[in-house]
Amino acid sequence: MRKARIVGTGMAAPSSVVDNHLLSRCMNTSDEWIVQRTGIRERRVSPDTYRMLLRLAEAPDKIAFMDEVFAQGLDGKIDSTLTVSDLAFDASSMALKNAGVEPRQLDCIVDSSTVPDFAYPHTGCVLQGKFGLTSTPAICLQQGCAGFIFGLAVADQFIRNGIYERVLVVGAELLSSIFDYTDRGRDMAVLFADGAGAVVLQAVESGESGLISHHLHSDGTILDGLSGEVWGTSTYPAISKKKIEEGRGRPRMNGRSVFVQAVRRFREVIGVCLNTNRLTVADVDLFIFHQANIRIIEAVADALKIPPGKTFNNVERYGNTAAASVPMALHEARAAGRIKDGDLVLLAAFGTGFSWGASLLRW
Ligand code: UT7
Repeated sequence: MRKARIVGTGMAAPSSVVDNHLLSRCMNTSDEWIVQRTGIRERRVSPDTYRMLLRLAEAPDKIAFMDEVFAQGLDGKIDSTLTVSDLAFDASSMALKNAGVEPRQLDCIVDSSTVPDFAYPHTGCVLQGKFGLTSTPAICLQQGCAGFIFGLAVADQFIRNGIYERVLVVGAELLSSIFDYTDRGRDMAVLFADGAGAVVLQAVESGESGLISHHLHSDGTILDGLSGEVWGTSTYPAISKKKIEEGRGRPRMNGRSVFVQAVRRFREVIGVCLNTNRLTVADVDLFIFHQANIRIIEAVADALKIPPGKTFNNVERYGNTAAASVPMALHEARAAGRIKDGDLVLLAAFGTGFSWGASLLRW
Protein backbone atom coordinates (compact mmCIF):
# COMPACT_ATOMS: atom_id res chain seq x y z
CA MET A 1 0.00 0.00 0.00
CA ARG A 2 1.28 3.46 -0.91
CA LYS A 3 2.49 5.46 2.07
CA ALA A 4 4.47 8.57 2.96
CA ARG A 5 7.80 7.94 4.65
CA ILE A 6 10.12 10.40 6.41
CA VAL A 7 13.39 10.22 4.46
CA GLY A 8 15.17 13.18 6.02
CA THR A 9 14.93 15.45 9.06
CA GLY A 10 16.55 18.78 9.87
CA MET A 11 16.47 21.59 12.37
CA ALA A 12 17.84 25.07 12.94
CA ALA A 13 18.08 27.30 15.98
CA PRO A 14 19.71 30.72 16.36
CA SER A 15 23.12 30.58 18.04
CA SER A 16 22.23 33.09 20.79
CA VAL A 17 21.45 31.21 24.02
CA VAL A 18 19.40 32.99 26.70
CA ASP A 19 19.39 31.36 30.12
CA ASN A 20 16.90 32.07 32.89
CA HIS A 21 19.45 34.26 34.70
CA LEU A 22 19.55 36.78 31.83
CA LEU A 23 15.72 36.88 31.79
CA SER A 24 15.67 37.50 35.55
CA ARG A 25 17.80 40.61 34.95
CA CYS A 26 15.12 41.92 32.56
CA MET A 27 11.96 41.07 34.51
CA ASN A 28 10.82 39.96 37.94
CA THR A 29 11.37 36.23 37.54
CA SER A 30 13.92 33.63 38.64
CA ASP A 31 15.68 30.52 37.41
CA GLU A 32 13.95 28.61 40.22
CA TRP A 33 10.43 29.76 39.22
CA ILE A 34 10.95 28.99 35.54
CA VAL A 35 12.59 25.58 36.10
CA GLN A 36 9.99 24.47 38.68
CA ARG A 37 6.99 25.60 36.62
CA THR A 38 8.22 24.65 33.12
CA GLY A 39 11.50 22.69 33.13
CA ILE A 40 13.04 25.31 30.79
CA ARG A 41 16.65 26.30 31.56
CA GLU A 42 17.61 28.10 28.36
CA ARG A 43 16.26 28.95 24.93
CA ARG A 44 17.54 30.24 21.57
CA VAL A 45 16.56 33.67 20.32
CA SER A 46 17.28 35.77 17.23
CA PRO A 47 20.35 38.04 17.30
CA ASP A 48 17.97 41.04 17.45
CA THR A 49 16.19 39.76 20.57
CA TYR A 50 19.52 38.84 22.14
CA ARG A 51 20.95 42.36 21.63
CA MET A 52 17.71 43.82 22.97
CA LEU A 53 17.81 41.61 26.09
CA LEU A 54 21.42 42.57 26.88
CA ARG A 55 20.46 46.24 26.65
CA LEU A 56 17.22 45.74 28.60
CA ALA A 57 19.10 43.99 31.41
CA GLU A 58 21.19 47.15 31.86
CA ALA A 59 18.35 49.68 31.41
CA PRO A 60 17.53 51.70 34.57
CA ASP A 61 13.82 51.97 33.60
CA LYS A 62 12.94 48.70 31.89
CA ILE A 63 9.33 49.55 30.99
CA ALA A 64 10.42 52.85 29.39
CA PHE A 65 13.19 51.05 27.45
CA MET A 66 10.80 48.35 26.16
CA ASP A 67 8.19 50.96 25.18
CA GLU A 68 10.90 52.78 23.27
CA VAL A 69 11.84 49.55 21.45
CA PHE A 70 8.19 48.93 20.54
CA ALA A 71 7.85 52.49 19.25
CA GLN A 72 11.18 52.93 17.44
CA GLY A 73 12.84 49.53 17.04
CA LEU A 74 16.26 49.04 18.58
CA ASP A 75 18.42 52.09 17.77
CA GLY A 76 15.81 53.15 15.23
CA LYS A 77 16.42 50.01 13.14
CA ILE A 78 13.35 47.91 12.50
CA ASP A 79 14.45 45.44 9.78
CA SER A 80 15.19 42.02 11.32
CA THR A 81 18.63 40.41 11.08
CA LEU A 82 17.02 36.96 11.08
CA THR A 83 13.49 36.16 9.90
CA VAL A 84 11.34 33.10 10.44
CA SER A 85 11.76 32.06 6.79
CA ASP A 86 15.58 32.13 7.28
CA LEU A 87 15.20 29.55 10.06
CA ALA A 88 12.73 27.56 7.95
CA PHE A 89 15.23 27.62 5.07
CA ASP A 90 18.12 26.34 7.24
CA ALA A 91 16.06 23.51 8.78
CA SER A 92 14.62 22.56 5.37
CA SER A 93 18.04 22.61 3.70
CA MET A 94 19.33 20.18 6.33
CA ALA A 95 16.31 17.89 5.90
CA LEU A 96 16.71 17.92 2.11
CA LYS A 97 20.44 17.18 2.36
CA ASN A 98 19.82 14.32 4.79
CA ALA A 99 17.16 12.96 2.45
CA GLY A 100 19.39 13.33 -0.63
CA VAL A 101 16.61 15.33 -2.29
CA GLU A 102 17.12 18.52 -4.34
CA PRO A 103 14.66 21.41 -3.74
CA ARG A 104 13.53 21.18 -7.39
CA GLN A 105 12.46 17.55 -6.76
CA LEU A 106 9.83 18.72 -4.24
CA ASP A 107 6.22 18.55 -5.37
CA CYS A 108 4.88 20.65 -2.51
CA ILE A 109 5.92 22.60 0.61
CA VAL A 110 3.73 22.70 3.74
CA ASP A 111 4.84 25.28 6.27
CA SER A 112 3.42 26.18 9.65
CA SER A 113 4.54 29.38 11.36
CA THR A 114 2.58 31.27 13.99
CA VAL A 115 4.27 34.63 13.35
CA PRO A 116 5.27 34.96 9.67
CA ASP A 117 7.79 37.24 7.90
CA PHE A 118 4.86 39.19 6.45
CA ALA A 119 1.14 39.20 7.24
CA TYR A 120 0.88 38.06 3.62
CA PRO A 121 2.25 36.36 1.60
CA HIS A 122 2.80 33.55 4.08
CA THR A 123 6.15 32.09 5.15
CA GLY A 124 5.68 29.01 2.94
CA CYS A 125 5.83 31.21 -0.16
CA VAL A 126 8.81 33.18 1.16
CA LEU A 127 10.61 29.90 1.88
CA GLN A 128 9.78 28.55 -1.57
CA GLY A 129 11.26 31.68 -3.13
CA LYS A 130 14.45 31.30 -1.08
CA PHE A 131 14.91 27.89 -2.72
CA GLY A 132 14.59 29.58 -6.11
CA LEU A 133 11.46 27.57 -6.92
CA THR A 134 8.91 29.34 -9.05
CA SER A 135 5.88 27.05 -9.31
CA THR A 136 6.02 24.43 -6.53
CA PRO A 137 2.84 24.88 -4.45
CA ALA A 138 3.43 26.21 -0.93
CA ILE A 139 0.68 25.53 1.61
CA CYS A 140 0.61 27.57 4.77
CA LEU A 141 -1.02 26.46 8.01
CA GLN A 142 -1.92 28.51 11.07
CA GLN A 143 -2.39 25.88 13.77
CA GLY A 144 0.09 27.31 16.27
CA CYS A 145 1.92 24.65 18.26
CA ALA A 146 -0.07 21.86 16.56
CA GLY A 147 0.96 23.11 13.10
CA PHE A 148 3.54 20.44 12.30
CA ILE A 149 1.12 17.57 13.07
CA PHE A 150 -1.56 19.19 10.90
CA GLY A 151 1.11 19.71 8.22
CA LEU A 152 2.14 16.05 8.29
CA ALA A 153 -1.51 15.00 7.95
CA VAL A 154 -2.10 17.33 4.97
CA ALA A 155 1.10 16.25 3.20
CA ASP A 156 0.32 12.58 3.86
CA GLN A 157 -3.04 12.84 2.05
CA PHE A 158 -1.38 14.18 -1.11
CA ILE A 159 1.18 11.38 -1.11
CA ARG A 160 -1.22 8.52 -0.23
CA ASN A 161 -3.60 9.64 -2.96
CA GLY A 162 -0.84 9.52 -5.56
CA ILE A 163 -0.88 13.26 -6.24
CA TYR A 164 2.66 14.02 -5.02
CA GLU A 165 5.86 12.01 -4.57
CA ARG A 166 7.87 14.30 -2.28
CA VAL A 167 6.65 16.92 0.17
CA LEU A 168 8.63 19.14 2.54
CA VAL A 169 6.87 19.72 5.88
CA VAL A 170 8.22 22.56 8.02
CA GLY A 171 7.47 24.10 11.41
CA ALA A 172 9.31 27.39 11.95
CA GLU A 173 8.96 30.10 14.57
CA LEU A 174 10.57 33.39 15.52
CA LEU A 175 8.39 33.99 18.55
CA SER A 176 10.89 36.05 20.53
CA SER A 177 10.06 38.95 18.19
CA ILE A 178 6.58 39.46 19.70
CA PHE A 179 7.07 39.38 23.47
CA ASP A 180 7.36 42.04 26.12
CA TYR A 181 10.43 41.05 28.14
CA THR A 182 9.53 43.26 31.13
CA ASP A 183 7.28 42.30 34.09
CA ARG A 184 4.24 43.02 31.87
CA GLY A 185 4.95 40.04 29.64
CA ARG A 186 6.75 37.68 32.01
CA ASP A 187 4.02 35.01 31.99
CA MET A 188 4.68 34.28 28.30
CA ALA A 189 8.14 35.67 27.52
CA VAL A 190 9.92 33.03 29.62
CA LEU A 191 8.18 30.18 27.79
CA PHE A 192 8.49 30.79 24.06
CA ALA A 193 11.53 30.93 21.77
CA ASP A 194 12.89 30.58 18.24
CA GLY A 195 13.70 27.55 16.09
CA ALA A 196 12.67 25.46 13.10
CA GLY A 197 12.33 21.79 12.20
CA ALA A 198 11.57 20.06 8.91
CA VAL A 199 11.06 16.65 7.36
CA VAL A 200 11.03 15.40 3.77
CA LEU A 201 8.23 12.93 3.06
CA GLN A 202 8.56 10.56 0.13
CA ALA A 203 6.13 8.04 -1.34
CA VAL A 204 6.86 4.34 -0.82
CA GLU A 205 4.79 1.62 -2.48
CA SER A 206 5.41 -1.19 -0.02
CA GLY A 207 6.88 -2.05 3.37
CA GLU A 208 5.96 -1.32 6.97
CA SER A 209 7.76 2.00 7.25
CA GLY A 210 5.76 5.24 6.93
CA LEU A 211 3.06 7.49 8.35
CA ILE A 212 0.20 5.39 9.72
CA SER A 213 -2.58 7.63 11.04
CA HIS A 214 -3.38 11.19 12.10
CA HIS A 215 -5.99 12.39 14.58
CA LEU A 216 -6.77 16.11 14.38
CA HIS A 217 -9.05 18.34 16.46
CA SER A 218 -9.86 22.00 17.07
CA ASP A 219 -12.05 23.84 19.57
CA GLY A 220 -12.67 27.48 18.70
CA THR A 221 -14.90 28.25 21.70
CA ILE A 222 -12.06 29.26 24.04
CA LEU A 223 -10.29 31.86 21.89
CA ASP A 224 -8.94 33.89 24.81
CA GLY A 225 -6.94 30.92 26.13
CA LEU A 226 -4.01 31.74 23.87
CA SER A 227 -4.28 34.45 21.23
CA GLY A 228 -2.59 37.36 19.49
CA GLU A 229 -4.14 40.25 17.57
CA VAL A 230 -0.98 41.70 16.05
CA TRP A 231 -3.15 42.59 13.13
CA GLY A 232 -6.54 41.09 12.43
CA THR A 233 -10.17 41.89 11.80
CA SER A 234 -11.05 41.51 15.48
CA THR A 235 -10.56 45.31 15.53
CA TYR A 236 -11.37 48.11 13.10
CA PRO A 237 -9.10 49.20 11.59
CA ALA A 238 -7.14 45.96 11.71
CA ILE A 239 -4.10 47.81 12.99
CA SER A 240 -4.18 51.18 14.74
CA LYS A 241 -2.11 53.30 17.11
CA LYS A 242 -4.80 52.78 19.79
CA LYS A 243 -4.57 49.01 19.41
CA ILE A 244 -0.83 49.14 19.95
CA GLU A 245 -1.11 51.56 22.88
CA GLU A 246 -3.64 49.26 24.55
CA GLY A 247 -1.17 46.38 24.24
CA ARG A 248 -3.52 44.44 21.98
CA GLY A 249 -0.68 43.79 19.60
CA ARG A 250 0.90 41.60 22.26
CA PRO A 251 0.04 37.91 22.72
CA ARG A 252 -2.36 36.88 25.51
CA MET A 253 -2.56 33.62 27.42
CA ASN A 254 -4.51 32.14 30.29
CA GLY A 255 -1.73 29.81 31.45
CA ARG A 256 -3.84 27.72 33.82
CA SER A 257 -6.57 27.16 31.24
CA VAL A 258 -4.02 26.17 28.59
CA PHE A 259 -2.33 23.80 31.01
CA VAL A 260 -5.58 22.02 31.95
CA GLN A 261 -6.84 21.83 28.35
CA ALA A 262 -3.47 20.61 27.08
CA VAL A 263 -3.25 17.72 29.55
CA ARG A 264 -6.88 16.71 28.86
CA ARG A 265 -6.59 16.88 25.07
CA PHE A 266 -3.21 15.12 24.92
CA ARG A 267 -4.65 12.23 26.95
CA GLU A 268 -7.73 12.00 24.75
CA VAL A 269 -5.99 12.16 21.39
CA ILE A 270 -3.22 9.74 22.33
CA GLY A 271 -5.90 7.33 23.61
CA VAL A 272 -7.80 7.62 20.32
CA CYS A 273 -4.61 7.13 18.28
CA LEU A 274 -3.68 3.98 20.22
CA ASN A 275 -7.22 2.54 20.15
CA THR A 276 -7.69 3.20 16.45
CA ASN A 277 -4.53 1.25 15.71
CA ARG A 278 -5.29 -1.46 18.32
CA LEU A 279 -2.13 -0.63 20.22
CA THR A 280 -1.15 -0.02 23.82
CA VAL A 281 1.51 2.25 25.30
CA ALA A 282 3.80 -0.79 25.47
CA ASP A 283 3.75 -1.14 21.66
CA VAL A 284 5.06 2.38 21.06
CA ASP A 285 8.85 2.80 21.11
CA LEU A 286 8.96 6.57 21.53
CA PHE A 287 6.48 9.37 22.33
CA ILE A 288 7.39 12.88 21.19
CA PHE A 289 5.13 15.57 22.64
CA HIS A 290 5.02 19.24 21.80
CA GLN A 291 7.73 20.73 24.01
CA ALA A 292 5.72 23.37 25.89
CA ASN A 293 6.32 22.52 29.49
CA ILE A 294 7.86 19.48 31.16
CA ARG A 295 5.03 19.44 33.75
CA ILE A 296 2.41 19.03 31.00
CA ILE A 297 4.44 16.17 29.49
CA GLU A 298 4.90 14.51 32.90
CA ALA A 299 1.19 14.85 33.74
CA VAL A 300 0.22 13.17 30.45
CA ALA A 301 2.86 10.48 30.83
CA ASP A 302 1.70 9.78 34.41
CA ALA A 303 -1.95 9.57 33.37
CA LEU A 304 -1.22 7.19 30.48
CA LYS A 305 1.48 5.27 32.37
CA ILE A 306 4.14 6.08 29.80
CA PRO A 307 7.54 5.22 31.32
CA PRO A 308 10.06 8.14 31.39
CA GLY A 309 12.41 6.27 29.04
CA LYS A 310 9.74 6.32 26.31
CA THR A 311 9.58 10.10 25.87
CA PHE A 312 12.13 12.37 24.22
CA ASN A 313 12.32 15.92 25.57
CA ASN A 314 14.46 18.94 24.76
CA VAL A 315 12.28 21.71 26.25
CA GLU A 316 14.99 22.28 28.85
CA ARG A 317 17.32 23.62 26.09
CA TYR A 318 14.94 25.25 23.61
CA GLY A 319 11.79 26.33 25.49
CA ASN A 320 8.51 26.29 23.60
CA THR A 321 9.16 26.75 19.88
CA ALA A 322 5.49 26.16 18.96
CA ALA A 323 5.15 24.56 15.49
CA ALA A 324 8.91 23.89 15.41
CA SER A 325 9.05 21.90 18.63
CA VAL A 326 7.90 18.48 17.39
CA PRO A 327 10.12 18.38 14.26
CA MET A 328 13.11 19.70 16.26
CA ALA A 329 12.63 16.96 18.87
CA LEU A 330 12.09 14.37 16.13
CA HIS A 331 15.35 15.39 14.46
CA GLU A 332 17.32 15.32 17.72
CA ALA A 333 15.78 12.00 18.80
CA ARG A 334 16.73 10.37 15.50
CA ALA A 335 20.24 11.92 15.58
CA ALA A 336 20.73 10.69 19.17
CA GLY A 337 19.85 7.12 18.17
CA ARG A 338 16.58 7.20 20.14
CA ILE A 339 14.61 6.22 17.01
CA LYS A 340 15.81 3.11 15.20
CA ASP A 341 14.61 1.75 11.88
CA GLY A 342 11.31 -0.05 12.44
CA ASP A 343 10.44 1.86 15.64
CA LEU A 344 6.86 2.94 16.25
CA VAL A 345 6.77 6.67 17.09
CA LEU A 346 3.78 8.67 18.34
CA LEU A 347 3.86 12.47 17.90
CA ALA A 348 1.35 14.72 19.69
CA ALA A 349 0.87 18.49 19.96
CA PHE A 350 -1.54 21.05 21.43
CA GLY A 351 -1.74 24.79 20.83
CA THR A 352 -3.65 27.97 20.07
CA GLY A 353 -7.15 27.60 18.69
CA PHE A 354 -7.24 25.38 20.52
CA SER A 355 -5.97 22.83 17.97
CA TRP A 356 -4.39 19.52 18.80
CA GLY A 357 -3.51 16.23 17.20
CA ALA A 358 -1.45 13.07 17.12
CA SER A 359 0.38 11.21 14.35
CA LEU A 360 1.59 7.63 14.45
CA LEU A 361 4.44 6.45 12.25
CA ARG A 362 6.72 3.49 11.74
CA TRP A 363 10.32 4.62 11.06
O1 UT7 B 1 1.93 25.64 23.53
C1 UT7 B 1 1.08 25.92 24.61
C2 UT7 B 1 1.62 27.18 25.21
N1 UT7 B 1 1.24 27.47 26.53
C3 UT7 B 1 1.61 26.74 27.62
O2 UT7 B 1 2.23 25.74 27.56
C4 UT7 B 1 1.25 27.30 28.95
C5 UT7 B 1 0.64 26.30 29.88
N2 UT7 B 1 0.62 26.83 31.22
C6 UT7 B 1 1.70 26.78 32.01
O3 UT7 B 1 2.71 26.22 31.61
C7 UT7 B 1 1.63 27.40 33.36
O4 UT7 B 1 0.31 27.83 33.62
C8 UT7 B 1 2.60 28.60 33.52
C9 UT7 B 1 4.04 28.10 33.50
C10 UT7 B 1 2.41 29.61 32.40
C11 UT7 B 1 2.36 29.30 34.84
O5 UT7 B 1 2.45 28.36 35.91
P1 UT7 B 1 1.34 28.35 37.04
O6 UT7 B 1 1.80 27.41 38.07
O7 UT7 B 1 0.03 28.06 36.38
O8 UT7 B 1 1.42 29.81 37.61
P2 UT7 B 1 0.27 30.93 37.65
O9 UT7 B 1 -0.06 31.42 36.27
O10 UT7 B 1 -0.84 30.45 38.50
O11 UT7 B 1 1.04 32.06 38.40
C12 UT7 B 1 1.54 31.88 39.71
C13 UT7 B 1 2.23 33.16 40.12
C14 UT7 B 1 1.41 34.41 39.86
O12 UT7 B 1 1.65 35.29 40.95
P3 UT7 B 1 0.55 35.44 42.13
O13 UT7 B 1 -0.70 35.89 41.45
O14 UT7 B 1 0.43 34.04 42.71
O15 UT7 B 1 1.19 36.42 43.04
C15 UT7 B 1 2.02 34.97 38.61
O16 UT7 B 1 1.87 36.39 38.51
O17 UT7 B 1 3.43 33.31 39.36
C16 UT7 B 1 3.47 34.63 38.79
N3 UT7 B 1 4.22 34.57 37.56
C17 UT7 B 1 5.57 34.60 37.51
N4 UT7 B 1 6.48 34.66 38.52
C18 UT7 B 1 7.77 34.63 38.16
C19 UT7 B 1 3.76 34.49 36.27
N5 UT7 B 1 4.80 34.45 35.42
C20 UT7 B 1 5.92 34.53 36.16
C21 UT7 B 1 7.30 34.51 35.87
N6 UT7 B 1 8.18 34.57 36.90
N7 UT7 B 1 7.76 34.42 34.61
